[in-house]
Amino acid sequence: MKLVCQKVWKLFGPNASEFLAAHNGAPTTQEISDAGLIPAVRDVSLEIKAGESFVVMGLSGCGKSTLVRCLSRLSEITSGDVHFDGRNLNSLSHHELIEIRRHKMGMVFQHFALLPHLTVLQNVAFPLKIQGKSKQQQTERAHELIEIVGLKGRENYFPRQLSGGQQQRVGIARSLSVNPEVWFLDEPFSALDPLIRNEMQDEFLRLREMLKTTIVFITHDLDEAVRLADRIAIMRDGEVIQIDTPEQLILKPANGYVEEFTKRIPRTKVLTVRAVMKPGDAPGDHTGNHTVKATAKIADVAAEVLNATSPLRVVDDTGKTVGSLERSAVISVLTATTEK
Ligand SMILES: Nc1ncnc2c1ncn2[C@@H]1O[C@H](COP(=O)(O)OP(=O)(O)O)[C@@H](O)[C@H]1O
Ligand SMILES: [Mg+2]
Repeated sequence: MKLVCQKVWKLFGPNASEFLAAHNGAPTTQEISDAGLIPAVRDVSLEIKAGESFVVMGLSGCGKSTLVRCLSRLSEITSGDVHFDGRNLNSLSHHELIEIRRHKMGMVFQHFALLPHLTVLQNVAFPLKIQGKSKQQQTERAHELIEIVGLKGRENYFPRQLSGGQQQRVGIARSLSVNPEVWFLDEPFSALDPLIRNEMQDEFLRLREMLKTTIVFITHDLDEAVRLADRIAIMRDGEVIQIDTPEQLILKPANGYVEEFTKRIPRTKVLTVRAVMKPGDAPGDHTGNHTVKATAKIADVAAEVLNATSPLRVVDDTGKTVGSLERSAVISVLTATTEK
């Protein structure tokens, strides 16, 4: 596990730690509000695997930014533990924390947070300057990243001379300059127009493939979450209600709130063949030579299945038969609304 968060609380207001201790670490909502405290993060436990794209999703004000600040230790936590690569961040000195943040974490924020009086090149190089890298190292790496995010030629522009999308590309390049082990992105595309946002999501997916780093991505947009996540944590009022793959969130919502949320997700784009196939390796009545992958999304195989005259053979990544896919199963996903 790259990042582990155990029973983390973040209460805003005076004497929050004492308050939590006095209530055995489990105060009620009423007790919290009577004490005049704001429960931004409540008893959150989660584990993020190395190389995973972990998305935190929830409505505005539910505590997403606070949680990510607790994970990266930009904020002190009120109680609980955060482990990074097996090291408990509570046990580290202030200096050690800063070193970890500078060398192992990259951050992108919603409002870009670029330095207005620095050029694109200087902004991207800035984290390396802070690290004390040589001028040449700074410049070389910055040029490399500027090219990767598609801003070659604009090295000497100032942020105000760039569009929102371009500014966020600078933010992305800057966050990657240190080659982060964990890449935090807090609603990076929320301030952008829908078309640009879509383009930036494509860009993000491309970078993710390239970097294979651990990612913690915050969004209030479910479509974005589904598109970018390996797993999604759904937050509400400071609590994490469910952590699962997009597919499992649809198939097994933990409660009505999650169900209500996930109803809107186009099921054919999330559900895999495996979720709806008839399992088993018997030859059955599927026509042997026509196969689909168990990991394929229904949307990608629907036409094929609907056109086939008999069920298709489903194979895993090694080519082994794991089940058969019938037309009726696909039709029921295509026409499903809320059942299952
Ligand atoms: N520095 C702060 N002081 C007091 N309350 C805060 C502070 N930061 C955030 N909050 C409160 O904590 C809650 C969660 O905020 P936030 O983490 O920003 O939510 P989100 O990122 O999901 O929109 C909100 O009620 C917000 O008003
Ligand atoms: Mg936020």
